[in-house]
Amino acid sequence: QTQLRGDQVIVVSNREPYIHDRTADGIAVKRPASGLVTAVEPVMRACSGTWIAHGSGSADRDVVDAHDRVGLPPGHEEYALRRVWLTTEEEQGYYYGFANEGMWPLCHVAHVRPVFRESDWQHYRAVNQRFADAVVAEARSEDPIVLVQDYHFALLPAMVRAKLPRATILTFWHIPWPNPESFGICPWRREILEGMLGSTILGFHTRFHCKNFIETVDRFLEARIEHEHSVIAAGGEETLIESYPISIEWPQESERSGWKPVEACRRAVFARLGLARDSYLAVGVDRFDYTKGILERFHAVERLLEKRPEWVGRFSLVQVAAPTRSALEEYHSFQERIQRVTQRINARFGRPGYQPIHLLATHHDHDAVNELFRAADACLVTSLHDGMNLVCKEFVAARDDERGVLILSRFAGAAREMREALVVNPYHVEETADALHRALTMPGSEQRERMASLRMTVQEFNVYRWAGRMLADAGRLRLRERIQARV
Ligand code: F6P
Repeated sequence: QTQLRGDQVIVVSNREPYIHDRTADGIAVKRPASGLVTAVEPVMRACSGTWIAHGSGSADRDVVDAHDRVGLPPGHEEYALRRVWLTTEEEQGYYYGFANEGMWPLCHVAHVRPVFRESDWQHYRAVNQRFADAVVAEARSEDPIVLVQDYHFALLPAMVRAKLPRATILTFWHIPWPNPESFGICPWRREILEGMLGSTILGFHTRFHCKNFIETVDRFLEARIEHEHSVIAAGGEETLIESYPISIEWPQESERSGWKPVEACRRAVFARLGLARDSYLAVGVDRFDYTKGILERFHAVERLLEKRPEWVGRFSLVQVAAPTRSALEEYHSFQERIQRVTQRINARFGRPGYQPIHLLATHHDHDAVNELFRAADACLVTSLHDGMNLVCKEFVAARDDERGVLILSRFAGAAREMREALVVNPYHVEETADALHRALTMPGSEQRERMASLRMTVQEFNVYRWAGRMLADAGRLRLRERIQARV
């Protein structure tokens, strides 16, 4: 990062790091449930600059701007926040429509049909232009470093490039990239690919997603592809396609010293959920999203209790499901279905004083989630498809006692790094049920070995390494450009 000293960094993401809501007691500020925010915030604190995001809470815009004392994030004044305010129609078409009914299922291949409406696409394009204009307005030089986050902004890199040809544009795609056949159904596939190729660097979590992207470009665009260097040249500009596995900020000693001991966390959580002291607890923490495999996870719990009745009355799952995108019918009906399945399983195996599944469908802050992680015997991450997934990394970071077992979907990008987890195919309910039994009966010594190794991996490959590698590549390319400009 030393090569970048003095350079201006601008981040663009849809989700803002602090949401301001109007409540009876005034304005409440909360952190959204977002892997992107978890990862990008510490990086922004480290390299300052400006974060441009969509203002999304229920508080009025002048209240939010005033509350942040002209764009300073509460408590973190190392960087500036600039919000882009969208109309209801823009939010509907760009965010709910094209981004979350089109791109999200398109890239996750999650058996939910993507919906492509012409009007959503028009909003998506217009909002990308509004954010691109905000970037240009913020730029203090002709070559700022712009960090573009995620599938909400596929068109923005080329839009910024048109106005700031010398900008270094780093786009990170936080979700998977599908194979060319799957992506090819998008009516605006060419525009999306051309928009993304306005980037200097295009990052994905895994090599597999990079390969899918390169193959997609090869299929649908006229472009020169240098496979050896992972570079695509379309329309004269070169884009480096590289994998940068995202991660978390490893908790500092100052934070850890404030944590309650594991035993105290366990006592508090068990008392709150009414669990018997000698029972076992697994935890799941997700946005309430159909890609997270929550249904399959509940079926695995049901199967465990069915085939191993000795766990009935002695094992429970606590599932935090943070409300998300509930205005969309697909999310709404999924969330209702999960409520029904929970009731059915609890009616089938529950008894007075015992409930196998505790579904907490509300937002939980970082401390509350950390307490659950520290209280649990196992953590279940069973995404049907996930770019990376940071919940599993946060679970591991919370377990400084080196206990607890991670059960992890092979379809989450994290499974490539976190080999000491019990890796499962979430579609195979039997396999997940067996993994749960194995986790609950795993000797302490094996738990410790696996957890120690997982913790070393996450501590070393933390979010600063993710950002550091990307920024170092950017620095290298900027230097090369300067040298070539002299020749
Ligand atoms: O990482 C994927 C992602 O969609 C982020 O872009 C987003 O911030 C997060 O999940 C949560 O989703 P949303 O912002 O739609 O609530």
